[in-house]
Amino acid sequence: MGDQRPKQNIRHPWSWSSFPHIGRTAAWFLFAAVMAAIFALLLGLLLHHHTAAQQSRAVTDPWYPSPLASGLDDWGDAYSRARNFVAGLTLLEKVNITTGTGWQSDRCVGNTGSLPRLGLGSLCLQDSPLGVRFTDYVSVFPSGVQTASTWDKEYALSNMLNDLTYSLIYNRGLALGQEFRGKGVNVALGPVAGPLGRTPAAGRNWEGFSPDPYLTGVAMYQTILGTQSTGVIACAKHLIANEQEHYRQAAESNGIKTHRHTTESLSSNVDDRTLHELYLWPFADAVRAGVGSFMTSYNQINNSYASQNSKIINGLLKDELGFQGFVMTDWAAQHSGVESSLSGLDMTMPGTGIPSDGTSYWGSNLTLAVLNGSLPEWRLDDQVTRIFAALYKIQNKSNSTFPEVNFSSWTSDDEGDAIFAPGEQYQRINDHVDVRRSHSSLIREINANSIVLLKNINSTLPLKSPKQIAIIGSNAGPNLAGPNGCPDRGCDNGTLALGWGSGTADFSYFITPLEAIQSRAISEGSGVQYVLEDYNYAQINATARRATTCLAFINSNSGEHYISVDLNEGDRNNITAWHDGDQLVSFTAANCNNTIVVVNSVGPIILEPWINHPNVTALVWAGLPGEDSGSSLVQVLFGDVNPSGKLPYTIAKSASDYGTNVMYEATEDVPQQDFTEGLFIDYRHFDQYKIEPRFEFGFGLSYSTFSFSSLLIEKASDSPYKANPYVPLTPINATPTRGKVSDYTFPSTFSRVKNYIYPYIPADSNIDGGSYPYPPHAVDTTPHPPSPAGGGPGGNPSLYDVLYRVSATITNNGPHPGKEVAQLYINLPSSANAPPKQLRGFEKVSLDVNASATVTFNLTRRDLSIWDVKVQNWVIPTGPITVFVGRSSRDLELVNIL
Ligand SMILES: *[C@@H]1O[C@H](CO)[C@@H](O)[C@H](O)[C@H]1NC(C)=O
Ligand SMILES: *[C@@H]1O[C@H](CO)[C@@H](O)[C@H](O)[C@H]1NC(C)=O
Ligand SMILES: *[C@@H]1O[C@H](CO)[C@@H](O)[C@H](O)[C@H]1NC(C)=O
Ligand SMILES: *[C@@H]1O[C@H](CO)[C@@H](O)[C@H](O)[C@H]1NC(C)=O
Ligand SMILES: *[C@@H]1O[C@H](CO)[C@@H](O)[C@H](O)[C@H]1NC(C)=O
Ligand SMILES: *[C@@H]1O[C@H](CO)[C@@H](O)[C@H](O)[C@H]1NC(C)=O
Ligand SMILES: *[C@@H]1O[C@H](CO)[C@@H](O)[C@H](O)[C@H]1NC(C)=O
Ligand SMILES: *[C@@H]1O[C@H](CO)[C@@H](O)[C@H](O)[C@H]1NC(C)=O
Ligand SMILES: *[C@@H]1O[C@H](CO)[C@@H](O)[C@H](O)[C@H]1NC(C)=O
Repeated sequence: MGDQRPKQNIRHPWSWSSFPHIGRTAAWFLFAAVMAAIFALLLGLLLHHHTAAQQSRAVTDPWYPSPLASGLDDWGDAYSRARNFVAGLTLLEKVNITTGTGWQSDRCVGNTGSLPRLGLGSLCLQDSPLGVRFTDYVSVFPSGVQTASTWDKEYALSNMLNDLTYSLIYNRGLALGQEFRGKGVNVALGPVAGPLGRTPAAGRNWEGFSPDPYLTGVAMYQTILGTQSTGVIACAKHLIANEQEHYRQAAESNGIKTHRHTTESLSSNVDDRTLHELYLWPFADAVRAGVGSFMTSYNQINNSYASQNSKIINGLLKDELGFQGFVMTDWAAQHSGVESSLSGLDMTMPGTGIPSDGTSYWGSNLTLAVLNGSLPEWRLDDQVTRIFAALYKIQNKSNSTFPEVNFSSWTSDDEGDAIFAPGEQYQRINDHVDVRRSHSSLIREINANSIVLLKNINSTLPLKSPKQIAIIGSNAGPNLAGPNGCPDRGCDNGTLALGWGSGTADFSYFITPLEAIQSRAISEGSGVQYVLEDYNYAQINATARRATTCLAFINSNSGEHYISVDLNEGDRNNITAWHDGDQLVSFTAANCNNTIVVVNSVGPIILEPWINHPNVTALVWAGLPGEDSGSSLVQVLFGDVNPSGKLPYTIAKSASDYGTNVMYEATEDVPQQDFTEGLFIDYRHFDQYKIEPRFEFGFGLSYSTFSFSSLLIEKASDSPYKANPYVPLTPINATPTRGKVSDYTFPSTFSRVKNYIYPYIPADSNIDGGSYPYPPHAVDTTPHPPSPAGGGPGGNPSLYDVLYRVSATITNNGPHPGKEVAQLYINLPSSANAPPKQLRGFEKVSLDVNASATVTFNLTRRDLSIWDVKVQNWVIPTGPITVFVGRSSRDLELVNIL
């Protein structure tokens, strides 16, 4: 989100899950009769067209009516409070809370209308998944992908932050929540499980965790628990199949003239099984963690926009996964009024296009839609109840008051316009509250635990007081324009600490590798030389030749589509090193027989040009570390910390080995991206097609060696898969709000702000009803039959029954204390047509030299099931299931049959 390009030209997408013709409510209302006629005609034509010409184009099944939130699980209390509260709201108030006030209207990237009668201010929604965006005195945490490479869900910090006791992933979520809260942000826009990482070049993969749905699911769960424990509502995003940047929005793509003109966002065409087993899996964990909000994506899924895809929002998220909170759009990704509401959307952000032109599909239009009867009021009530339930459950569960917003996203001046774009309400606007606490030590801890050692010939590392260190490459040093020199980190100058786009935050300070290595080297009595000019080969050669240890720093960058860096339009154009990094490494190595390569990258890069060079003695994968790149790298290089990070993705020998790629050039007006690879992405693809990777998923070396023994499998439960216990609610047939137009117009004393979105309707509005060709059951008060796979948070509660317990013993054979990640993979019987291996458990343990520990993995019904598209439920395939435990996806020394 956070797109800053002009509002997209609103088109009328044809989709099965939504209304075939999208008209804004008000427009419909005025021309109801005419439109109904045109509609019938259009519908007929399109249906005909569909069957005749678009036989193969993916379609979405409709899923109506939108399920009412029921107070499942531990949401019951929040629900009864929310229902009571909403019963006392007026129509205008209800509309106000569903609709953003406009781009740059208020202080946050998204703000809802307020409820002045009840003394409730607007809700503040703010980026990003790794820190509070657009403000100062915040921490910039390691990126999602970096955090995932800790594989740390058990390790407890000993004494650092007294309230942090769980895992590094949890602790990061908690620390993020503390900072958002400290700035007065109600909804933190993260974490990310979409993109999942279908293809390694996709621009925003680094905002999420891993292309493995299990690892991402654990990271989503832990992050959300941590963040929401502070009273800040987390936002699981972007739902769903948001797997590339090119063509995510037509207007944005059309701004880049070299591409085909497109009329709609790209459609990610995903089959039902793949959707369940890969892309939806981590979102189920998010729901299970009690996440308060979801954000839909820019793309279409099977030719229906994510923000109005009734199958995804009503069917999968709200019914099958039992989601009880609210669903918002990505920024300016709403494409219809009544239709998006009926499809399950609860909140529109930022309420309008970008920049704001004062119009909205909701706001005024939503008020009209309820008054003229085109939107049943129970749906609006459910939207609002969901928002307040999330507030009651997460924010208001304690009695402490939530801070007011104390910053402005749009200026760093102390004073300015609180209502920014139109320039109103000049006041003190930035309090510059320092919310960082002692989070810098947590950041170093995460980085030290996430650096992946990929090569280490003859114990090159840890360094042993080298006589002369040569540091080579711009990726070791500062951005000369300053750590925040490029807005939203939209450049590749200096060492790479984050990708670019809305998923970033401004650095309060920044420690480069050069700075940290130099100060450590001095204390070791080493000499240090450096060349930060990537193309100054004469100086690189000369400097490398005189050193005893060379550190060659290279990177590869990507980000969000609204910024292009070196012609990379969000997605990477290639997965090789930038700034001729291969040449830089090769020249360094040609002159230095002890060349250690350090890579900062958003994802895999191809290492083949030099990985087997005899003088490349070590390779350190330092990822996207956030504000402190140097300190933890030094700890690993010099051996204060024994590396324990593991790759959260596969590094291939060739880009084509991944079997998937970004669609860089569209061939149709509505680009169709068929996910033909199905379940086979990342290591699942390499295993299935027997392709040798350079470094496999889950791989990472230590300065010690660990052995695995004593695999034990125990049956934990025989409990059968039970039926969905949930009974859907029937909407209360409340008397719909009616009245005169004049009851809903601007109050006479009201002073309107230009381009601001309000719930009031124009005085000349007509609120007579009319007939409207809804899709079947869209406005029914009889609920849709519930999915057998639903009934609890994250799906049917029996999916989470533990059926088996697997244990294994890990021993540290020395010579250093260290940590190892025991990884459990399963192989399902061949009848399942499943990937050869799938991660289904991991445990990170810390061991002294010669010490052993036994780890236990719980295998749930979900872990052993596949999605059966015929019965529309999870099923454990019949036949033997093999369990593997070991140190990477291809180094699994323990094997047994369940
Ligand atoms: C709706 O929100 C706006 C902006 O916060 C506020 O000015 C207005 O009074 C609210 N309207 C109602 C009816 O609460
Ligand atoms: C309501 O929707 C119509 C039709 O889509 C649009 O033209 C109009 O600007 C909207 N009204 C407001 C007040 O946003
Ligand atoms: C909040 O305050 C009420 C009334 O003072 C009290 O009954 C309740 O226990 C408090 N809740 C918490 C979580 O402190
Ligand atoms: C590692 O060290 C041994 C013993 O000094 C030496 O024989 C061997 O060639 C070295 N290996 C590499 C790859 O440099
Ligand atoms: C920084 O990046 C910009 C844009 O990517 C580039 O044009 C510029 O030359 C760079 N500056 C330095 C000092 O590297
Ligand atoms: C640097 O060293 C490499 C390998 O020895 C050589 O090919 C290249 O020509 C050298 N470049 C310069 C400018 O010295
Ligand atoms: C890959 O992309 C980077 C960044 O744009 C560029 O510097 C590099 O030259 C490209 N590599 C190849 C082989 O095209
Ligand atoms: C390795 O480095 C030494 C300099 O230390 C150099 O003489 C040798 O040619 C290099 N080897 C290769 C294969 O480039
Ligand atoms: C590199 O070359 C130096 C000087 O010839 C030699 O002492 C050293 O052992 C070599 N290092 C490696 C890792 O081969």
